[in-house]
Amino acid sequence: MRAYNFCAGPAALPTAVLEKAQQEMLDWQGKGLSIMEMSHRSNDYVAVAEKAEADLRKLMNIPENYKVLFLQGGASLQFSAIPLNLLGKNSKADYIHTGIWSEKALKEAKRYGDVNVVDAATLIDGKHAITEQSTWNLSNDAAYIHYADNETIGGLQFANVPDVKTPLVCDYSSSILSAPVDVNKFGLIYAGAQKNIGPAGLTIVIIRDDLLDQTKPEIPSILKYADQAKNGSMVNTPATYAWYLSGLVFEWLLEQGGVEAIHKVNQEKAKLLYGYIDASDFYNNPIAVANRSMMNVPFTLADEALEKTFLKEAEANHLLNLAGHRSVGGMRASIYNAVPLEGVQALVNFMDEFTKRHG
Ligand SMILES: Cc1ncc(COP(=O)(O)O)c(C=O)c1O
Repeated sequence: MRAYNFCAGPAALPTAVLEKAQQEMLDWQGKGLSIMEMSHRSNDYVAVAEKAEADLRKLMNIPENYKVLFLQGGASLQFSAIPLNLLGKNSKADYIHTGIWSEKALKEAKRYGDVNVVDAATLIDGKHAITEQSTWNLSNDAAYIHYADNETIGGLQFANVPDVKTPLVCDYSSSILSAPVDVNKFGLIYAGAQKNIGPAGLTIVIIRDDLLDQTKPEIPSILKYADQAKNGSMVNTPATYAWYLSGLVFEWLLEQGGVEAIHKVNQEKAKLLYGYIDASDFYNNPIAVANRSMMNVPFTLADEALEKTFLKEAEANHLLNLAGHRSVGGMRASIYNAVPLEGVQALVNFMDEFTKRHG
């Protein structure tokens, strides 16, 4: 049987997608070979790649004046690729700091430019929160403003897209495709695939055309968005299987009714889990309501000594990967698009039984 997988990434994939991939594994569409064994330059593969892009454009309503790139190196390589591409003419950037991932991004950027760090994490009544935009010390001459929509480890998410004139660059790794977003508000969106898109190994970059010619001269061609855009993300061999599988996830999402429809399910899932935690004296979520992540729900138990038992019993109940990130401890349930409402209900039922037995 398939368990419910609450891993933060690589994360759960829709069962229907894995079944389709399994069915096509040995003989892709009667061609007598797996898609993994096919040239990335073949007509068949290029059609698969282009269909994935077209479906992603449909799902996110990506305007014509944006390029969509299918790259490698994870979101972490983008921490360097972004300043290398965007700090050529103007070397100044603002970085909003809200947690571990935005901190990693700004540390890399400091190697390439003049980074103004805006500390936007705060505590309100003992709960983690993001400060009001009006209090941010933004520069008026930055090439871009970087932020991470959803801090996957902390479970801290922006309630709204910041309202700024400077090109906005967003790490959407753990929240892309979870809720509708107006791409026009961004200069660049990037995301590692291994949460809401597909398997690890693929990184999506969505970039507005006017930002393609700002690069530093020494940038390697493989990291240069303009070169990747010109070459259909095939400056070198791309992650062909991850790209194909992500395409299957996009098809699945369209079948579910698209991002609006999955957003409604995500809202229900989050309401169920946070609602249960809030009503309980045994579990606690450390985030202020306005900034609670819809995708990653960290929580602690009243008695820390019970954590190991909780994880062991959860696993025995086919509820996997609920340990918090190694840097923060506690528990974390990642409830990405591919985790169904029934999975969250099963988790809540287990948490309730666990309280009755150990609380
Ligand atoms: C918000 C966020 N940014 C960046 C990363 C790093 O991604 P990658 O492992 O693809 O480099 C992660 C990984 O979990 C993440 O959650």
